[in-house]
Amino acid sequence: MIFSVNYRAVRVFLKVLAPFVLLNCVILFLLRNIHGNEALTDQQQQKSESHITLNNIISTTTATYIQVDIQSRAPIGEYLWNHIIEGKKELYLTHQHQDIYKRNKTVNGITFTFQSGKSEISSYSTNLVLIIDGSSQLKQKKEEMWLNERLNSHTPKTLFVVILGDHNCTNNQWIIPYLSSHGGSIDAVFIVRDPFIKDDNEFFQWPLGVATHRDFPLFFSEDIDILSPRSFVCNFFGSTATGADRLFKELNLENLCYLKTSNTSFTTGYDYIQAVSDSDLTLCPASELGSSPETYCIYEAFSLGSVPVVEEDVTVNCDGDPLFLLKQHNAPFILVESLEDELGDVIANESRMNLQEKIARRATVVNWYANFRHRMASQFIQVIRSRIIQ
Ligand SMILES: *[C@@H]1O[C@H](CO)[C@@H](O)[C@H](O)[C@H]1NC(C)=O
Ligand SMILES: *[C@@H]1O[C@H](CO)[C@@H](O)[C@H](O)[C@H]1NC(C)=O
Ligand SMILES: *[C@@H]1O[C@H](CO)[C@@H](O)[C@H](O)[C@H]1NC(C)=O
Ligand SMILES: *[C@@H]1O[C@H](CO)[C@@H](O)[C@H](O)[C@H]1NC(C)=O
Repeated sequence: MIFSVNYRAVRVFLKVLAPFVLLNCVILFLLRNIHGNEALTDQQQQKSESHITLNNIISTTTATYIQVDIQSRAPIGEYLWNHIIEGKKELYLTHQHQDIYKRNKTVNGITFTFQSGKSEISSYSTNLVLIIDGSSQLKQKKEEMWLNERLNSHTPKTLFVVILGDHNCTNNQWIIPYLSSHGGSIDAVFIVRDPFIKDDNEFFQWPLGVATHRDFPLFFSEDIDILSPRSFVCNFFGSTATGADRLFKELNLENLCYLKTSNTSFTTGYDYIQAVSDSDLTLCPASELGSSPETYCIYEAFSLGSVPVVEEDVTVNCDGDPLFLLKQHNAPFILVESLEDELGDVIANESRMNLQEKIARRATVVNWYANFRHRMASQFIQVIRSRIIQ
């Protein structure tokens, strides 16, 4: 939103100034001829330099109008579109029992068109972003076959891929032969969960984000109540297998925290959003042993002004730190080695904070998250723009 407003402002600014610039160019041209070969005075020199700059702005603005298609085949695409780019979602048509969403948005001179669903994109574009799910070997194989077919029928001029990588970073290397540096056609990859192959040139680490497949909505920081006292010190939603019931009983947290365990897969209901919004802390352990500590829960808690308590899972096979991106951006979370050993201390620390301190911390959390989303958007757009223009 901010970007498009700025862009519009620049356009209006240029529209108003363009005739003025032209007129001045004519005057300068005449002046130069009147003076013949005489050097311009300092003042005139400065004037002519400032014209050159303005003219450059005009020509770059028109030259960098870019069209980029985003085709999303994975739920992380909704996070990118709806939460990072802040584009709206609109049902376009229902085709063979599959909903297709199509929408466009112009950000910083790039018009993005977003399409989700597994149906083929209707028109072939020169600049394309593909969003795919590589989180299991089976899914990755299917997506790779589809990618090959896609590239055989039409190779875009520039191609970017956003991948949901696998939890333990064992199965992400398949993309490497498709990179332009290896003779393939992919210009840059944004990958969730794999800090190992991140190089900030062709590979960028990408956030997992909130669970858009469970319809977790986008909350803007100004919509979050950070001032009222919250009913719960902490909350936990998760599997019975985590042993959370026993731990909560041992630590006498039953009256302080909201606990919901289940042996079936969990859905984002109203009670979840309500409990997280009404808790100072949200417990976010890795969903199971050996899976990545980067969970949806972290981003969901941030967006509601609740501090995530994150367990750093040392059993993960990733050669780097799966939380690297969040740490690099100074995420305001509480990191523990193990909830089992440290939850008692975390709760004791909470009891030493007063409401004013908690309000200040909530403000930090919601603002940090909004800034983080905006920084991810500008990095994404900047990488795309630089590869298209070069
Ligand atoms: C963007 O969407 C609007 C309305 O949905 C449509 O009228 C317009 O042509 C689209 N623009 C581009 C560049 O696709
Ligand atoms: C990584 O996870 C996959 C399943 O997602 C599993 O089959 C594999 O054994 C795991 N590898 C390691 C080294 O943990
Ligand atoms: C899961 O929960 C249901 C009811 O909530 C119960 O009937 C079932 O036995 C449970 N299964 C396991 C493996 O605990
Ligand atoms: C509790 O607070 C102390 C003092 O601020 C800090 O050193 C410690 O790491 C905290 N413990 C936990 C588990 O957050």
